[in-house]
Amino acid sequence: MEKIYVSGGNRLTGELRISGSKNGTLAIMAGALLARGPTVLQNVPRIGDIYTMVEMLRQLGAKTRTNNDNSVEIDATEIETNEAPYELVKKMRASFSVTGSLLARLGYAKVPMPGGCDIGARPVDFHVKGLQALGARVSIEHGYVEAEADRLRGGQTYLDFPSAGATQHLMTAACLAEGTTRIDNAALEPEVVDLANFLTAMGAKIRGAGTRTIKIEGVDELRGVNYTVIPDRMEVGTFGIAAAATGGDITMRGAISGHSTAVFQKLQEAGIRINSDGDWVRVRADRRPTAVDIKTMPHPGFPTDMQQPFAAMLSIADGTSVVTENVYERRFKYIAELQRMGADIIQSGRTAIIKGVPKLTGAEVTATDLRAGAALIIAGLVAEGRTEISGVDHIDRGYEAIVEKLASLGASIVRTDSDAQPAVKLA
Ligand code: UD1
Repeated sequence: MEKIYVSGGNRLTGELRISGSKNGTLAIMAGALLARGPTVLQNVPRIGDIYTMVEMLRQLGAKTRTNNDNSVEIDATEIETNEAPYELVKKMRASFSVTGSLLARLGYAKVPMPGGCDIGARPVDFHVKGLQALGARVSIEHGYVEAEADRLRGGQTYLDFPSAGATQHLMTAACLAEGTTRIDNAALEPEVVDLANFLTAMGAKIRGAGTRTIKIEGVDELRGVNYTVIPDRMEVGTFGIAAAATGGDITMRGAISGHSTAVFQKLQEAGIRINSDGDWVRVRADRRPTAVDIKTMPHPGFPTDMQQPFAAMLSIADGTSVVTENVYERRFKYIAELQRMGADIIQSGRTAIIKGVPKLTGAEVTATDLRAGAALIIAGLVAEGRTEISGVDHIDRGYEAIVEKLASLGASIVRTDSDAQPAVKLA
């Protein structure tokens, strides 16, 4: 079992390149199943979740190849099976979105109910209702969702909550349906727009992506394309917050600042300076951040994924902050770990009250999910002494080379087997 060791106290300074979007790529890879002919995706992050999705497509019969230049080739001309393996869906919720593509291509799909990060109830009822609106007969038995339809037909679906995953899944499934589909109360996330751009490049007819109503006019066939995935706004947020927490000064290349408006506004409110132009963003902190309140919401609101890293920064801010989690009720499990490092946090239901302390102290902690892992790394970067983080596999699911990137910015951070001593002497 690997661990990440962080020795706190170093300011993050310098430049880094932002990787491609995890969530964007995952949805696009499920969409690539719709096409005949080869698709090449560029700017794909080399992370655990992408490897899981590559394995999923491979097991379904698509030909895939991952290259060292962050590209992935997918040819789903032949799909051999319409059943998704339990082992893979259990690992990652996003893999559930192959259901619509299998249904559209083969008329039948059998996919296990999904797993993924343990951050709260993550039902698939919107997905199921939406597929039913497209004419599919859906049953849920023995932990599997089975969906059948000779050919999907256009329909209308309203999402009770603007779910990113359901919007992406249903938009994808509707591309090969007969007639027009309308999704109301759709999610506005940049990854939804990116997926729409990808599907459109493949020949789909989609209007309104990035607004609350998306209309899809079904086509008979989609073709493979060459497509570059957008940068990962969660990586941008994470490094921006880490720079802010450490009193750093970093420039992120290959970032789209407009995708991270809420996080940047809140950082500015905390006294951090943000500049951006074209494809770079600079985050500078010349003093301890001040306390700010955050409330998570669907895009363009403050992203739930950034709640944990931001809370790590607030734990050493000047003053008391109130953090309200409106999307995933269990996304507070990291609080107990931050408390082990000296954070003063009281949680009640969906609210956490964080009283900033002058310093955290390094401790042995465990990442319970991906963004909790990011929060603990940030806490480690500002803590006095050494922090030892277990649960590294969660972090590897979503951050490409995070240890190397942070080390290149001056952090004292290494990873190694838990049984061995850190391979590099920590400062
Ligand atoms: C995606 C992101 C995840 C992010 C989340 C919220 C991917 C792979 N993951 O997850 O990183 O934290 O958006 O921004 O893109 N819901 C239902 N029924 C459904 C579907 C969702 O009730 O059928 C609820 C969920 O419980 C949650 C809310 O809707 O409370 C938002 O979920 P959703 O946007 O679907 O999240 P994911 O797409 O799973």
